[in-house]
Amino acid sequence: MSSARGAARRAAPGTGLAVHLLLLGSIWSPVEAQLTGVLDDCLCDIESIDDFNTYKIFPKIQKLQERDYFRYYKVNLKRPCPFWADDGHCSIRDCHVEPCPESKVPIGIKAGSSNKYSKRANNTKELEDCEQANKLGAINSTLSNQSKEAFIDWARYDDSQDHFCELDDERSPDAQYVDLLLNPERYTGYKGPSAWRVWNSIYEENCFKPRSVYRPLNPLAPSRGEDDGESFYTWLEGLCLEKRVFYKLISGLHVSINLHLCANYLLEETWGKPRWGHNVKEFIHRFDPIETKGEGPRRLKNLYFLYLIELRALSKVAPYFERSFVDLYTGNVQEDAESKTLLLDIFRDTKSFPMHFDEKSMFAGDKKGAKSLKEEFRLHFKNISRIMDCVGCDKCRLWGKLQTQGLGTALKILFSEKEIQNLPENSPSKGFQLTRQEIVALINAFGRLSTSIKELQNFKLLLQHTR
Ligand SMILES: *[C@@H]1O[C@H](CO)[C@@H](O)[C@H](O)[C@H]1NC(C)=O
Ligand SMILES: *[C@@H]1O[C@H](CO)[C@@H](O)[C@H](O)[C@H]1NC(C)=O
Ligand SMILES: *[C@@H]1O[C@H](CO)[C@@H](O)[C@H](O)[C@H]1NC(C)=O
Ligand SMILES: *[C@@H]1O[C@H](CO)[C@@H](O)[C@H](O)[C@H]1NC(C)=O
Repeated sequence: MSSARGAARRAAPGTGLAVHLLLLGSIWSPVEAQLTGVLDDCLCDIESIDDFNTYKIFPKIQKLQERDYFRYYKVNLKRPCPFWADDGHCSIRDCHVEPCPESKVPIGIKAGSSNKYSKRANNTKELEDCEQANKLGAINSTLSNQSKEAFIDWARYDDSQDHFCELDDERSPDAQYVDLLLNPERYTGYKGPSAWRVWNSIYEENCFKPRSVYRPLNPLAPSRGEDDGESFYTWLEGLCLEKRVFYKLISGLHVSINLHLCANYLLEETWGKPRWGHNVKEFIHRFDPIETKGEGPRRLKNLYFLYLIELRALSKVAPYFERSFVDLYTGNVQEDAESKTLLLDIFRDTKSFPMHFDEKSMFAGDKKGAKSLKEEFRLHFKNISRIMDCVGCDKCRLWGKLQTQGLGTALKILFSEKEIQNLPENSPSKGFQLTRQEIVALINAFGRLSTSIKELQNFKLLLQHTR
């Protein structure tokens, strides 16, 4: 455990996550809390992040996400998985092919019972899960006629902008606008082998993991023993900064998604009316140091790390938006001006927050090595965004794609610092560009992280009350 001891030595006593985890109550063992003071790889005090997020960022970003420009995201949910044939074992789309007939599901289960979770898995349970996930994972594609007309106008406007970067498959006839406000990220019942496989291939095949490390990176995989943690953390410490960062970003994304599922859990369903809320048991199951063999707090730190990376990207991209001719076009001049004011206000806040990750130290090795590493980094990340097409539940796929695109955009910004600094003052189509899609993904992805950090505070309170 040399790495853990090192972290403890570096941690200033009584600061940061340590305090927070202590406040979370006795379920966080004090020993573990002591080990988790400071975020590695950047100088950060978690308490300041919490305050900054709660009082400044969170309320503003919530408002921004409700504006028309940011609430409609164009996405293609029909792209086939490029890596494996849908195995379909309650991969939700296949519920149609291999129907899970409602008549087979016992009425007691359909009505929804709160002890679902403790039931042993068997065929009935699988059918039930499949049916529930099918329903909860579906996208609500309701759009008003008015918005549909507006989208045609938006597309025309976007086309008239000279975008220099690679466009997604936005032009595919399968790409559709989705109203994000109607499709909140929450529990969908999507789990089992299909979900497992997606995360497993991300962690095992796309996180620079060498064969010599036996321990699975995937937190969903069963642990093989008590002390393989040591070799894992030695390995992680031994990685160059860039690869370590990559792993942390992915882990942070995973944590954020799980936090949303815990905070928006289907608590019960009576007469077809679902009740959503915080599921403390699920939270403990995923993040408690004892139940997770000490992994929970480490994973939560990765969430903060990811938050800082995206925060940094926002502060870096500000000059791009500060130019007067960059607008958030929806065709409504007044609304567009308000959206922009709000966005610039958030940028000012991000710039005022002093403790950011310093990406200058990344890819700073010898020139040739740094360049190929950066390229490797980019390819791995791109690959992960393609794996999102293998997610078997539409709603999860939507949020998975949005959040990877958001993080991808953040990385693009961080590695385009020079280009952003050198943007011509009066020439809209020259130099660094962002598409509407990238902007929407960037803001909504960051909004998710902001919400996750807020939800962490909520769980802290809930845990105090349940003790
Ligand atoms: C499956 O679960 C149901 C409901 O919990 C139970 O009644 C049944 O005995 C189980 N069947 C098997 C084969 O385990
Ligand atoms: C979709 O959202 C609209 C607006 O809130 C609602 O009226 C409609 O019932 C929803 N449809 C489904 C299938 O949930
Ligand atoms: C929306 O447009 C469709 C087809 O153009 C039309 O049938 C429908 O009545 C419209 N709905 C509303 C609410 O205007
Ligand atoms: C992309 O991901 C797939 C699935 O995990 C994996 O098999 C493949 O090796 C990855 N490709 C690259 C270039 O990393």
